[in-house]
Amino acid sequence: MDKSHGRTEVLLNEKKLYKPSAKVLKNVRVRQYKAMTAKAVKNPKKYWEQAAEELEWYKKWHTVLDDSHKPFYKWFTGAECNIVHNALDRHMGTPIEKKTAIIWENDAGQRRKLTYRELNKEVCKMANGLKNLKVRKGDRVAIYMQNTPEIAIAMLACAKIGAVHSVVYAGYSSHALRERIDDQAAKVLITSDVGFRSGKVIDMKSLCDEAVQGSPSIQHVIVHRRSDTPCKMKMNRDTYWDALVDSQPAKCETVPVDAEHPLFILYTSGTTAKPKGIVHVHGGYMVGINRTLQWVFDIRENDVYWCTADPGWITGHSYIVYAPLINGMTTLMFEGVPIYPKPDKIWQVVQKYKVNILYTAPTLIRTLIKFGDKWPNKHNLSSLRLLGSVGEPINPEAWRWYHRVIGKKKCPVMDTWWQTETGMFMITPLPSMPLKAGSATLPFPGIQATVLDEKGKEVPPGKGGYLVIKNPWPSMLRTVFRNEKRYLHTYWEKFPGYYETGDLARIDKDGYFWIQGRSDDVLSIAGHRIGNAEIESALVSHKAVSEAGVIGKPHPIKGQTAKAFVILKQGYKPSDKLINELKIHLRKTVGPVAVTDEIEFVDKLPKTRSGKIMRRVLKAQELGEDAGDTSALAD
Ligand code: WTA
Repeated sequence: MDKSHGRTEVLLNEKKLYKPSAKVLKNVRVRQYKAMTAKAVKNPKKYWEQAAEELEWYKKWHTVLDDSHKPFYKWFTGAECNIVHNALDRHMGTPIEKKTAIIWENDAGQRRKLTYRELNKEVCKMANGLKNLKVRKGDRVAIYMQNTPEIAIAMLACAKIGAVHSVVYAGYSSHALRERIDDQAAKVLITSDVGFRSGKVIDMKSLCDEAVQGSPSIQHVIVHRRSDTPCKMKMNRDTYWDALVDSQPAKCETVPVDAEHPLFILYTSGTTAKPKGIVHVHGGYMVGINRTLQWVFDIRENDVYWCTADPGWITGHSYIVYAPLINGMTTLMFEGVPIYPKPDKIWQVVQKYKVNILYTAPTLIRTLIKFGDKWPNKHNLSSLRLLGSVGEPINPEAWRWYHRVIGKKKCPVMDTWWQTETGMFMITPLPSMPLKAGSATLPFPGIQATVLDEKGKEVPPGKGGYLVIKNPWPSMLRTVFRNEKRYLHTYWEKFPGYYETGDLARIDKDGYFWIQGRSDDVLSIAGHRIGNAEIESALVSHKAVSEAGVIGKPHPIKGQTAKAFVILKQGYKPSDKLINELKIHLRKTVGPVAVTDEIEFVDKLPKTRSGKIMRRVLKAQELGEDAGDTSALAD
């Protein structure tokens, strides 16, 4: 008997189904999940071809999917396109031209709005500026900027001329920036003089100077000015954005590229210290993100859509910039901290702009829970129609709070599972589906996922194992930049014929997926496998707990034991009694296997800037080991 399934039972016994509201059921498209999935399984090429036909191409493909060099799949071969044609050009001369494309606000209260026409003009000017600096098709341009319209303009300008952008999240250190610039041999770096965060000013240009010093590849640094204080500029290398762009013509032809032409490289961490440069291409990527955004978020013509991620992550690429613009939506970019200066900043913004779709992360939801219901309750959130979650498993507690307190039980919660590598949502509900709190539900139509055991055999319902994808999809990564070996090794070798996600999951008897965290963050306690995230989720479901990070420690008899670091909610005090209570709670919710030998109360947990707890750092501290590269740490 697998004793580790205590938690499974809790989750799979999750009897409550959240039924879709009449409002979302009006949408026929989202009502037909089963029929669409069946169609996609029967003829995946036709299904994706139809998705591709919803976009504009300069030249049509001769082959939908070329799988002659598996797993180096190619989609829509023979076609010519440019994602910017779909995101901007085709809206010109239509009513969308006058619509607001981007609303931007920062936590100093500054705000801007750009219509599609204005955005297009800025992108054209920047594209001309880049051409002036001799940036050519295929050249790499690194972008290191805050969440501002300029980051979107820079990305789109690169794509427009066929250059490959590589956004490095502005919270990374200069060392991390340099490592990424070197790996891709970027020719140009686009940045700003300063950045703003929680009332602090960050000297971005100095960080960039450090990063590019002695760089063999960087020829130009473009600096977007945000302060009145001039910064140090290096002759012949540095140029101000305005000086480069102001004199440029407001028109620029979009360059037709092959469907398989690289659009961007985005670095993501793997199990080794060196980040992987994930490569995405124009054609398939736009098809995948377009269909998923439309179907999962059930978008409507006048929606105001807010994804709280940063453009520096894949979520920002796919679902702040590209997919919303392709769909002519109004996308909100908030350059601030959703709980600064007060815990209701996020709700103020929702109310002010009458946000209809809010897409955020479980870590933020749990933080908001900690502050209490009074903050959201002060605001009118009635504009919200749909809620989204991404980034880590959302624990049922947080899901229910989000659904009840924010969505007033009227907004479906779309828990979207996906990765930098997948480019688009992969396992996700559609708004018409009955939901289970804490489950990412079912694979998106066209995606076939399953769970395998160590030997590569599919496991029966309720059993945990490795989450894999069975078939290729258009917006999949094409390779790891200049490292085919790593591409093959990381994703395709462990289970031949399957894409290995690196995550653990269970499928319940209804076919619903329960993501349990990374397989590299897995504990094996007395032979029972359990995800760190499972124990964390269980702890967080206790009324006193706000956040928890769990690590594995070597143990002479059990192999490993778990240690939990716990942040308490306001009003709770650390005590031995509480530790006991939490242990009992763990035993009850997950099973005896999850009872952590040690629980320590802390004020803070080491996190990445995107909010993921860095267990590696916790573990290194605990065991007195070297934490390795910590540049992704928020503090
Ligand atoms: C985790 C973010 C559970 C997962 C889009 C995945 C999730 C990794 C979810 C990718 C979710 C993302 N439920 N886990 N809804 N979404 N993850 O590349 O472990 O930054 O492998 O992409 O985040 O993180 P990445």
